[in-house]
Amino acid sequence: MSSTTPQPAVGRSVPRREGADKVAGRTRYTDDIAVQGAWYGKTVRSTLPKGRVRSIALDPAFDWGRVVVVTADDIPGENVVHLIRDDQPVLAPNEGEIRHREEPILLLAAPDRALLDDAAHHIRIEYETAEPVYTLDQATEVFSTIEIRKGEVPEDVEDVEAVVERTFQVGLQEQLYIEPQGAIAIPEPDGAIKVIGSLQCPYYVHRALKRALNLTDEQAIVVQAETGGGFGGKEEYPSIVAIHAALLARKAGRPVRLIYDRHEDLAATTKRHPGVIRHRTGVKKDGTLLFQDIEIVLDGGAYCTLTPVVFSRAAIHAAGAYSCPNVRIQARAAATNTPPNGAFRGFGAPQSLFAAELMVEHVAERLGMSSVDLRRKWMLRVGDTTATGQKLTESVGSELVLDAALKAASTVQPSNRPTVRRGRGLSLVFHGSGFTGSGEKKLQGTIALEALPDGTFRILTASTEIGQGTKTIFCQLAADALGVGLDQVVLAPQDTSLVPDSGPTVASRTAMIVGRLVQDAATALKQRLKREAPPLRVEKAYIQPDSVHWDETTYRGDAYPVYAWACTIVDVDVDTTTGEVHVTDLVTAVDCGKALHPVMAEGQIEGGSLQAVGWATIEEIKVKDGGYQNDRLATYLIPTALDAPRIRTILVENPYSRGPFGAKGIGELPMDGPAPAIIAAIHDATGVWLDEIPATPEKVLAALNGTRETGNGKQS
Ligand code: MOS
Repeated sequence: MSSTTPQPAVGRSVPRREGADKVAGRTRYTDDIAVQGAWYGKTVRSTLPKGRVRSIALDPAFDWGRVVVVTADDIPGENVVHLIRDDQPVLAPNEGEIRHREEPILLLAAPDRALLDDAAHHIRIEYETAEPVYTLDQATEVFSTIEIRKGEVPEDVEDVEAVVERTFQVGLQEQLYIEPQGAIAIPEPDGAIKVIGSLQCPYYVHRALKRALNLTDEQAIVVQAETGGGFGGKEEYPSIVAIHAALLARKAGRPVRLIYDRHEDLAATTKRHPGVIRHRTGVKKDGTLLFQDIEIVLDGGAYCTLTPVVFSRAAIHAAGAYSCPNVRIQARAAATNTPPNGAFRGFGAPQSLFAAELMVEHVAERLGMSSVDLRRKWMLRVGDTTATGQKLTESVGSELVLDAALKAASTVQPSNRPTVRRGRGLSLVFHGSGFTGSGEKKLQGTIALEALPDGTFRILTASTEIGQGTKTIFCQLAADALGVGLDQVVLAPQDTSLVPDSGPTVASRTAMIVGRLVQDAATALKQRLKREAPPLRVEKAYIQPDSVHWDETTYRGDAYPVYAWACTIVDVDVDTTTGEVHVTDLVTAVDCGKALHPVMAEGQIEGGSLQAVGWATIEEIKVKDGGYQNDRLATYLIPTALDAPRIRTILVENPYSRGPFGAKGIGELPMDGPAPAIIAAIHDATGVWLDEIPATPEKVLAALNGTRETGNGKQS
């Protein structure tokens, strides 16, 4: 150990821990991991969206000798995918209900893929059909409802000087992580099962495995392989893949690999919740905001999955980054017979903020004001209260990011192509960092830090690297808090038999919540090392500060520990002959508290922004008879490098006292701002308002030709 103080690591863009292996192609993702004697697994799914399994028959003429078949009868524990509500079965039982057309019915394993496919063709499943529900209007089953009230929203609008009403619609979106879902299950001695997989939340999978396979804490072992992206899509679905692989491995008595190809992944796994958001906003002629009346309906698909928490975030962010004395937010999530929707970066906030931001534009237009001036008038500042009544006491970056983005944006030059019109739009958003309400208090995420005899330090955490930088940032935080060199800190593998439950890697919580635990553990360990010698171990669990109050029943109080803020300015080119929208330039200023690793923080913002550009413009999932029609990469289009705008990120450091070195979570934030800014830019370019995304060429052309029936514009 050198006696000189090492160069601080926090705030420097040090090489990422797993970066060299990824770049050199040495990284082993789940499908790259060779396991001796492993068989291949396959999921046989329903072909109808609603009904009942009447019978499952295996062709007696086929040789089943080298094939393992798993049905619901082979589940040793409960036939439930453990999450929030116990509605989703691991496999549809015989006589059991089918609620969507990708419902898993049985599982197969075989030594080679050809035999596996052959076997699948020799299974006959008979169904009883029932009438499916596809639209929110027809939906009768409600997963959950939320009402948020602040002040009184007047039914009688006499006192106000203008009321603007508008309805918005947002579409499904696929996470499109680089690596599809996959897991390898390995039976171990003593009835234990080890699952290695592509996943975000080892302990979610651990709990789900224990319950379905009736395993003890020690018998279920979950190991995260290096993971090619998650974006929320590997928050809940890996539990299903892991249970399926484990059931096959258990029955086969050998390891089984269950790796989805892209087609199956697109067809069967969770998507972003589509929905409808209605706003009624009352203002005075000078722009004073009097009330916001908001209704949100999200489509949860066939099973509950994470819908209640996704739409909780949607509801809490629905009023936007603004201060309003009277707010009513009514939200509900309903069931339809499409594959379940689930977690996707932003977790409901992009949906409701899309509507909230466009409402600022519509009110500004109605009043003949600049929407930037209106935002300045409305924006939350220190001392203001949010829709849930949370008083903001620190690190409120609304004005900082607005000023920074406006300063950085260049002037718009008109297009020199006669059929192309150019326009600019802006949005201002906030995003709660960490779990909602009492989430962190209930979770009590835990990490451990060890001082080893060789002078190195080891961080033990279940927080995963999914491309966002966890491995690097945690080592930076520990090194600086310990006052040691970065190379003296290592991270233990994300293996539930080794690391404590740090909570899931979701909700923009890892750097801020778990990172702070790493920093605190390192500070404590440094103190102990003054008197004690290694080996030493320190554990830290999250403790909710007494100042944080949240009432789950009334939805009042401190919804999040703190918020991150972003202002996005986009320039678009709209081709008036084809209806194509090209986002050419995107500037975003982000209040991240403190940039622990500036290059990776910018990377988060760039990646999230491009994902939002896709959601707003070209990512459209066409649903027919309860299935996705464009469930191939050839037909589900996302922006490529050639479609990407020039993206500039300005990191504004506005420290948060309880964040590690002042940092706030920003992983989801960049998903929120670009979509409304793009719609505003299309309006600036063409004079037409779209109320629905994605703004596909068809919709843009219809709007330009005035043929689109929006049902909007009924303003009093
Ligand atoms: Mo996330 S959408 O909180 O995995």
